[in-house]
Amino acid sequence: MPQKSSSSPDFQSVLAVRLSRRNALKGLGLSSATMMLGACSIKTSSVVTSASAVSKAQGSLIFTELEHGLDAYLSVSPGYQTQVLVSWGDALFPNTPAFDPEQQTEQRQLKQFGYNNDFIGFVSLPLGSQASDRGLLVVNHEYCSSEMMFPGSPSELALDKQQTDVNIAAHGLSVVEIARQADGQWQLVLNSPYNRRITPHTPMQMTGPAAGSSRLFTRYSTDGVQTRGTYGNCAGGVTPWGTILTGEENVDTFFGGDFSASNEGENYRRFGMVSDFRTSWGLHHERWDMRQNPAEPLHVGWVVEIDPFDPHSVPKKRTALGRYKHEGANVFVNADNSVVAYSGDDQQFEYLYRFISKGRYQPDNRQANLHLLDEGTLYCARFNDDGSMQWLPLVFGHGPLTAENGFHSQADVQLDCRKAADLLGATPMDRPEDVDVNPVTGQVYVMLTNNSNRQTAQVDGPNPRAKNLTGQVLELTPPGGDHCADTFSWELMIVAGKKGQSGSQYHPDITDNGWLACPDNCAFDNLGNLWIATDGAEVLGVADGIWATEVSGPNRALTKRFLRTPEGAELCGPFFTPDSQNLFCSIQHPGGGSSFDNPKTRWPDFRDDLPPRPSVVVVTKQGGGRIGS
Ligand code: FEO
Ligand code: CA
Ligand code: CA
Repeated sequence: MPQKSSSSPDFQSVLAVRLSRRNALKGLGLSSATMMLGACSIKTSSVVTSASAVSKAQGSLIFTELEHGLDAYLSVSPGYQTQVLVSWGDALFPNTPAFDPEQQTEQRQLKQFGYNNDFIGFVSLPLGSQASDRGLLVVNHEYCSSEMMFPGSPSELALDKQQTDVNIAAHGLSVVEIARQADGQWQLVLNSPYNRRITPHTPMQMTGPAAGSSRLFTRYSTDGVQTRGTYGNCAGGVTPWGTILTGEENVDTFFGGDFSASNEGENYRRFGMVSDFRTSWGLHHERWDMRQNPAEPLHVGWVVEIDPFDPHSVPKKRTALGRYKHEGANVFVNADNSVVAYSGDDQQFEYLYRFISKGRYQPDNRQANLHLLDEGTLYCARFNDDGSMQWLPLVFGHGPLTAENGFHSQADVQLDCRKAADLLGATPMDRPEDVDVNPVTGQVYVMLTNNSNRQTAQVDGPNPRAKNLTGQVLELTPPGGDHCADTFSWELMIVAGKKGQSGSQYHPDITDNGWLACPDNCAFDNLGNLWIATDGAEVLGVADGIWATEVSGPNRALTKRFLRTPEGAELCGPFFTPDSQNLFCSIQHPGGGSSFDNPKTRWPDFRDDLPPRPSVVVVTKQGGGRIGS
């Protein structure tokens, strides 16, 4: 979901950036120095920009760079091709009626691909294989743009009951089998037994430390265990045991109603809840009206685990991973087989988190792995300006997490993560979005999108700019590759923004098309190259899209543009097949900022009777081969 900045740019704000020590050490022509900035000591570097000073070795990313631009079309690097795989309204089952935006109903939407696709997970079929030509595509539908969905371009609050029910049914996730044909084209397998829509109504269960908490009791959930549905699903991850993690992010926006009489007032205010309705859901259903159902917001803001290989499985809300505005969650198996999940709380000045399982991953015992995310320790991150960081455990009874501060159980800690992390002194970040582990190097990458409200006095090492409109990419290194260590080191890999402006920092040899803005999601190809997807580059006059860079060696941080979205869209959920020859991409809210009746693009159909449609596309190399090389 795009979050527009509220402040004007201040390109003269603090520019001191702690640059990569790795670059300095590995011969990029950087020399370190230390300068004082306000109260904090920030290590900075001077960049030698002479091309002759930098040996530009031939790396693994040799694609021809795409130019910046902003138009109605999807564009990709020369030598590559895109196929629209599935769009909002497309059939997921053999009996789905043909899509007609003038005749849309809830029942039709429940059999169709939902709206505003975000995260994409591809899991190979059969389970456990590394197949790259057949698998299950699992896609989040984060939110709806009602003014782009319905004739008459209604606002979110103007929807009638029937439109509201279509809107609700267009949220959640889609699971659909896909297969690559002999001609190279991908197709949906409509008669697959795996195909499924998961919606805000789907029965689910709370599991882990907060399950059964009396704070979760509602008229529907009399045990605090039963729960319903998921929405606001932003990013996510695929576990090594073939399940999907989906992050419930901006869930506050679905609720309204005065909650001042609720016991949860402090929690709700900290979560950004307001009494004003921002969608029509609570106007037509008491479930989302906090005057009538005050505990319902505690049922969302979690990471949900879904087993796509069992279409009848009940999705589980893994409360051990905490309740906040989860961008997503990505799992990594540590050397000792502990399972580590990283996740960001995507809001200005919120935190980065890590979960470590108590149990161990068992490669040959999938059934046991299905419970690994229910027991363990959650941590929040505190960064130091000397390039180190600590993971601080969120454990009831330890430190300030006691009854004195309102915590009476571990369930309370999980339900009030933000407050717990406040008390522990976590570092407020510039909107942590995707946090993912490079499968080749084991390093962790954090996409920090932007933070227009950071003030000069709030600048620190990993968040180096005031009024930060364009974000940065942070690299975390676990010592000796141990993801369970309490202390990691960190570096700023990229400080985004226009080349040569507003404190941006890249490899000095990026082209005029190589700069990016507002990193949101990321993916790694099977060589460990970093592919960055953006949400917000239009503020600088260019389309969002994908940029790729090598993470080490002489071409580190040499970002190159690979793909451009149609106007109004952001790029989400990039995901490679295991062979890195197919790259799935979400084109979310194409034409955003315009309307159904007067859209600024009709991508991808370009038919006068269809509005622009959010879609998943698959990118391949003409003639085949690994993408990017
Ligand atoms: Fe839904 Fe954090 O973007
Ligand atoms: Ca986004
Ligand atoms: Ca996102």
